[in-house]
Amino acid sequence: MKNSNRKFPNNFLWGASTSAFQVEGAGNSDGKGESVADVRTRAGKYMDSSVSVDEYHHLDEDISLMKKLGLKAYRFSISWTRVLPNGDLSIVNEKGVNYYHKLIDELVKNEIEPIVTMFHFDYPMALVNKYNGWVSKKSIKDFYNYADFLLKEYGDKVKYWLTINEQNVMVNQPEIMGTKANNKKELFQNAQVSNINMCLAQAEVFKMARERYRNIKIGPAVSYITALPENGKSKSILLAKQLEDYFSFYLMDISIRGIIPQSYLNTLNDKRVHLDLSKKDLQTLKEGTANYLGVNWYCTTTFKYKDKNNKDGFVLDDFSVIKDSDLDYTKWGWSNDPVGLRYAMQQLNDRYPEIEVLVTECGWSDEDKLEDGKIHDEKRIKYFKGHIEQLRLAIKDGVHIIGFCPWSFIDLLSVNDGMNKRYGFVYVDRNNHDEKQLTRYEKDSFYFYQSVIKNNGLKF
Ligand code: BG6
Repeated sequence: MKNSNRKFPNNFLWGASTSAFQVEGAGNSDGKGESVADVRTRAGKYMDSSVSVDEYHHLDEDISLMKKLGLKAYRFSISWTRVLPNGDLSIVNEKGVNYYHKLIDELVKNEIEPIVTMFHFDYPMALVNKYNGWVSKKSIKDFYNYADFLLKEYGDKVKYWLTINEQNVMVNQPEIMGTKANNKKELFQNAQVSNINMCLAQAEVFKMARERYRNIKIGPAVSYITALPENGKSKSILLAKQLEDYFSFYLMDISIRGIIPQSYLNTLNDKRVHLDLSKKDLQTLKEGTANYLGVNWYCTTTFKYKDKNNKDGFVLDDFSVIKDSDLDYTKWGWSNDPVGLRYAMQQLNDRYPEIEVLVTECGWSDEDKLEDGKIHDEKRIKYFKGHIEQLRLAIKDGVHIIGFCPWSFIDLLSVNDGMNKRYGFVYVDRNNHDEKQLTRYEKDSFYFYQSVIKNNGLKF
């Protein structure tokens, strides 16, 4: 009895995640069209996504490593422009389509469940140039056509689908979507309009997928920024709550309940953002909801008011982030707070008790050094030990968690820090300036996670 209490469900999806532009490389090959991520990384201070860690040409090797790790699931994204180079249906790139058939078939053959993200930060440049991307209502139809294409092509092989990765992050960093604007105010307005267009596009896809593909699970991958108050005072607790509502819960409410929460509309109203929403749009949101929830969760963040005299409470520009002296932080300021994960999972269960949760990202970043063919990433192991134990407790609490997909299976191109910031269980020998041989090495955390999977949880 004691022992079974310690275990995860038998069919638990022990996985690992990546995204296309961050691992694949082959950015300009085999008919792939250009994405915002390609342009953005090229303009950045680090390497671009043309090579990344070249999974495109290392597929067999990487799948063997997944098998060795013991993965039960692999979360990856399809590069929209590798399949549809113009973003619309005008050209279908057969080589790209076949690449994902091969990837999915190999995973299935190796008994690794494919979990597919349709759109992960790599929006087609052609659609940005055509109509400013998600700012235009035309983007809704193009995303729908893309999703429809993917489901027709791969829908009978893939059970778990995620529509859009971290829409709530893109809205706050609109350059990730390639959004153009003449000034800061217009950028904010455009980002919020894009937000709603993504919600509408996603709702139409949810509806279509649930009607036509009865056996699949489809949901969003939302970044849940778990906000902690600076102290126990009600004003501080309220700020943390309002930040969670504004950054994360609004999107879960729209995706799961089909409603835009009033608190979200109030904040936009304060910012004088105008949303052009018809009755039909509201109906679309109501009718197209997710049947599971992907959550990207890394850490808790502690917030405080900047202006102590703020009387009205929540004002979007009036908070700052502080560190908790009890917690360890990555070099980039992300905390190691395992209990935060259990708390976050309980929050989700309280809000959406009917919904199954898949942890689609969770991880510890570091610079990681290769020494004599070994990588001793103790801090990552410590992070996962804590988080896996708290995940188990959350399941014991009654939260319906179906899987855990740490970020990331392999070292990859970080969104803002290139190869300096590594997350993988597998090390790739390259840096920002030198591709070297892209040799793969198993880190110490690889063996740790291998044992977790083998034991269906931590070994006590
Ligand atoms: C998530 C994204 O926000 O965090 C990933 O879905 C990203 O694409 C990850 O890589 C870590 O962020 P960063 O900035 O360290 O790459």
